[in-house]
Amino acid sequence: VRGPVDVTLFVPPDRHAGTALHVQLEASIRDAVREGRLPPGTPLPSSRTFAEELGISRGVVVEAYAQLAAEGHVTARGGSSTRVAEVPPAARAAGAADVRVPRYDFHPYVPDLAAFPADVWLRSTTRAVRHAPFGALGYSPTPGVPQLRTVLATYLGRARGVAASEDRVLVCNGHTQGFALVCRVLRARGTRRIALEDPGFFLHRDIAGRAGLEPVPVPVDEDGLDVERLAASGAEATLVTAAHQSPTGAVLSPRRRQALIAWARSTDALVVEDDYDAEFRFDRDPVGALQAAAPDHVIYAGSASKILAPALRLGWLVLPPSVRDDVVAEKELDDLATPALEQLTLAEFISRGALDRHLRRMRPHYRSRRRALVRALGRHLPEARVVGVPAGLHLLALLPPDVSEDAVLAAAGERRVAVRGLGPTRFDPAAAPPGLMLGYASQPEEMLAQGVSELAGAVAAVRRGEESAARAR
Ligand SMILES: Cc1ncc(COP(=O)(O)O)c(C=O)c1O
Repeated sequence: VRGPVDVTLFVPPDRHAGTALHVQLEASIRDAVREGRLPPGTPLPSSRTFAEELGISRGVVVEAYAQLAAEGHVTARGGSSTRVAEVPPAARAAGAADVRVPRYDFHPYVPDLAAFPADVWLRSTTRAVRHAPFGALGYSPTPGVPQLRTVLATYLGRARGVAASEDRVLVCNGHTQGFALVCRVLRARGTRRIALEDPGFFLHRDIAGRAGLEPVPVPVDEDGLDVERLAASGAEATLVTAAHQSPTGAVLSPRRRQALIAWARSTDALVVEDDYDAEFRFDRDPVGALQAAAPDHVIYAGSASKILAPALRLGWLVLPPSVRDDVVAEKELDDLATPALEQLTLAEFISRGALDRHLRRMRPHYRSRRRALVRALGRHLPEARVVGVPAGLHLLALLPPDVSEDAVLAAAGERRVAVRGLGPTRFDPAAAPPGLMLGYASQPEEMLAQGVSELAGAVAAVRRGEESAARAR
């Protein structure tokens, strides 16, 4: 067994270098990993040893390890057992056209993976497996294991105001599968057109289209989905991100909620409520789920992807009785059931209060990261306009209309800043105003600020390029 590496291998951070200490330390470790001086699996010093021997605070080491873990250079399970990753990120990305690892990654759809409560999850797995009757290892019920359905019904009622009972809950492989199942059921029942928010989550269009439905765009403004336009669209069903519109961050206003429910009742339409990140509201308590007001017309859709981790592939639907059996039948044909041990683990995790504790820890964490991002935008890119309520894992920053979004994305890529634009969220990308979807969940505050400063450099370079092109004309 190899012991931890000698601390003297690393360049001690310099307080006068003008760069944060943890960023210097990260660079030093990252270089050692990339250059092969630290082979895969090598244990790194505990944060305490590192801090003592280099004369820096432990927090600096913890922050550096968290960042390197998020990048995939190390695997971290608490400071004492951090190791160089077995598979380096560059090898994992092999096959992609550009294997350069981004220095700053504003991925909008992932939580802080370095904050995943791995130890508690493992304990929940151990308990779940130990206490599971042998029968749990057979073919489990298609709607989900009863323990998880019961726990979810209680949790969703308490945390989101959802009118749920165990028999209405279907556990699925993420929201993605749940929405696909619903679309197939709608199509089989004769629904032809489903309204989707424009801008909206790009995958919804593809999923609906693949199920044979025609996705119909309905605009979104600062009050969320425009229900008058929905009513005029001729759609027979709709999807809505009511608590935190994806990507604009608008909240569906009380008047629009009422109008949406009135529309669903009067046309006997179904509304899919995608509640993907509603647990994270930073300025007030989250608004309750729309589903509670019309449980017979709203399909509630939730997911573990934002509150825990996308890799779990755990999602859940709360279904009106009118469609429940059909959706369960689709699920059965898809994959019989979602893996039972994962479900039992989540049931254990929630019922022991671990999800509540994790969310209590993550809210202030994300709130301060969001604030840091907004501050950095104000300082480095004041021409960007942040829209939406303070909630979720990303914000939308609109760019001045005369700047080309594609050019900014390309210039950001040159600077190894990974960022997504607003274009792909629109039915007609060309009609989208230029904007950036900036995820803040997975980068420490210092990196968010540096990443924004790089983005500002990208915007300035685009402006310079556009000016010189204009002069040349
Ligand atoms: C709007 C929206 N809904 C749902 C999801 C979650 O999908 P899943 O549960 O399949 O990971 C995402 C993930 O990015 C999303 O952005």
